[in-house]
Amino acid sequence: MKARVHGFEMAYDDTGSNKILLLLIHGFPLDRTLWAAQTHGLSDVARIIAPDLRGFGESGMPNGAVTMDTYADDLCGLLDALNFKNAVVGGLSMGGYISFAFYRKYPDRVRALILANTKAGADSLEGKKGRDDNAALARDKGAGAIAERMLPKMLTPKTVAERAQVAQSANAMMARQSVAGVVGALMAMRDRPDSTPMLATISAPTLIITGAEDTLIPPKESELMRDAIRGARLVTIPNAAHLSNYEQPEAFNLAVREFLNKLQAT
Ligand code: MLT
Repeated sequence: MKARVHGFEMAYDDTGSNKILLLLIHGFPLDRTLWAAQTHGLSDVARIIAPDLRGFGESGMPNGAVTMDTYADDLCGLLDALNFKNAVVGGLSMGGYISFAFYRKYPDRVRALILANTKAGADSLEGKKGRDDNAALARDKGAGAIAERMLPKMLTPKTVAERAQVAQSANAMMARQSVAGVVGALMAMRDRPDSTPMLATISAPTLIITGAEDTLIPPKESELMRDAIRGARLVTIPNAAHLSNYEQPEAFNLAVREFLNKLQAT
């Protein structure tokens, strides 16, 4: 499905029919197919909207610089287009950075937060340099080169060795993204603000999920968020690295299902 949002066509999947709306925001350099196991496996507990961010998947990429606020504005535009007052906002990794931007700008539109394999802090100086290096690599060699660099950090070595189908589809998802989308996101991540001071102000019910073997954003970051966000619950999924929802969908879905059921009961 597509909706016209801020001058471009935003592609999204829309499954389930429950009262609770779950907005799932993919990470970098991915697209909405990241959430296939959630849009199918959780459609009995929520209506799930999984969009492609601008420049990714089947969404358009208008000209101009991108910030985390740009993505947040796009998503708010999508909620408006679909006539939704609020949503459970869930994001993985860069999707978590966007969830923070969304909460900062539109707290009234957030019914609850799900922060997966993400962190509150901004990039270090070294991290910012890494973004510039990756942008140069993407411009020179295309998204395939970024995929090759990132795959070993996305999944556990065991999954890469033993579940060829999962590794291949994650690699293909990264390799098919547009250079403009990839570079735009790298700059947005490089320049994103530190969300740490905001954590203590979050009053939305929050579920934090991470993979026990995530080396890209280690579980320690999730523990810091759990300690700073009032009442937050942390689920650490065994045998999962950065793409915990993709690598261990049953465990991920169980954590989200329990969280949504509780939310519905309140
Ligand atoms: C992501 O998975 O969204 C990104 O790799 C996160 C990051 O690079 O900071």
